[in-house]
Amino acid sequence: MSELNNIALKIISLGKGILAADESTGTMKKRLDSVNVVSTEENRLKFRNTLFSSESMKSCIGGVILYDETIKQNFNNTSIPKIILEKGSVPGIKVDTGAKILANSKDEKITEGLDGLRERLKIYYSLGARFAKWRGVYVISDSFPSKIAISTNAHALARYSALVQESGMVPIVEPEVLMDGTHSAETCLKKTSEVIKKCYEELILHKVELTGTILKPNMILPGSSSNKKISAEEIADLTLKCLTESVPSEVPGIAFLSGGQTEIEATKNLNAINKKNKSNFIMTYSYGRALQQSALKHWSKNLDDIEGTQKVFNHRANMCSLAAKGKWSEQIEKN
Ligand code: 13P
Repeated sequence: MSELNNIALKIISLGKGILAADESTGTMKKRLDSVNVVSTEENRLKFRNTLFSSESMKSCIGGVILYDETIKQNFNNTSIPKIILEKGSVPGIKVDTGAKILANSKDEKITEGLDGLRERLKIYYSLGARFAKWRGVYVISDSFPSKIAISTNAHALARYSALVQESGMVPIVEPEVLMDGTHSAETCLKKTSEVIKKCYEELILHKVELTGTILKPNMILPGSSSNKKISAEEIADLTLKCLTESVPSEVPGIAFLSGGQTEIEATKNLNAINKKNKSNFIMTYSYGRALQQSALKHWSKNLDDIEGTQKVFNHRANMCSLAAKGKWSEQIEKN
C-alpha cells in the first residue's frame, strides 16, 4: 500500500499537478471544432504529443490522464506512456465509460464502466498506466443532487477505486458538482460537502486504502448563471471549509478540476487556496481546459508551430505550479 502512496505523492508533490488530457473522442471533437481544426486521429495525437513533449512537463506535470485512444498511440515510434515517463511524469488513464441518464431521476447522471473493468485495468497497467480516473457528475437545483445520484455515484466510485488499487494503480476519485445554475456559493458548499462525505463513506465500506488515492473535486463557487461574483479569498475559505470537514486526513492530496473556470480564475483561486491552506492536504491542479485552452488556440493557427504552442503551454503550466505553492501573482502572470 505504501507503494500506492508513493505514486500518489510523486504525482502531486513539489508544486506539480496533473494534466487532464483524457477528453473522449466526442469531447475532443468539440474542443477542436471550436478552433476550426478537423478532429482526426492524427491531429488529436499531434496536439497532445506537443504538450507531452514540453519543457514544463518535468517541473510542473506529475501525471497525465490519457484517453483509451492516446495510451495506445505512438509518436515517432515511441509509445505515448513512454514519452510521458521520460519526462519524469506518471501516465494515467480515464477508465469510466461516461455518464448516462440515471433511472428514476432522468435529469441526473450515473457514471458507467464497472463491467469488465478488472480486465481493462490489467491492459492499461501493461501499457504503463499507474493511476486511473473516474468522474461522477452531479447537478445542483432545488432537488438535486438527489439521494439516488449521491449514493449510486459514490458506490460506483468506491467499486472503481477498490479495483484500481487491486490492479496496483492509484484511483483518482472525481465527484464533480457542476458549476451550472443560479445557486449561491453557500449552496455549492452544502451540496458538495454532502457528495464528498458520501463518497468517503462508500470508499471506507469498500476497504479502499485512502493513503493511496487522490481526490479531484470542484472548487466551491457560486453557480455560473447566478450573476454573483465572490473574491478568490472567499472561494478559498469556502473550499477549504468544505474539504477539511469532509475529507478524511489519510488522503494525501487534492487535485482540483477547473470545471469551466477561465485559465486565470482557476490559477488565482488555487493560489488563494494554497495561501490559506493550514491542513496537511496537498492542494494542486488536475486541469483540462485551464491548462490547454490558450495552447490549443495558438496551435490551431498553425499546426506545425510546435515550439510556439509549447511556449504557451509552458507558461500556463508554470503559473499553475506557482499557484500550487501559493506563490502566483498577477504581476508574475503578466511578465
Ligand atoms: P476541466 O479542468 O476542464 O474541468 O477537466 C478536468 C477533468 O478531467 C474533468 O473530468
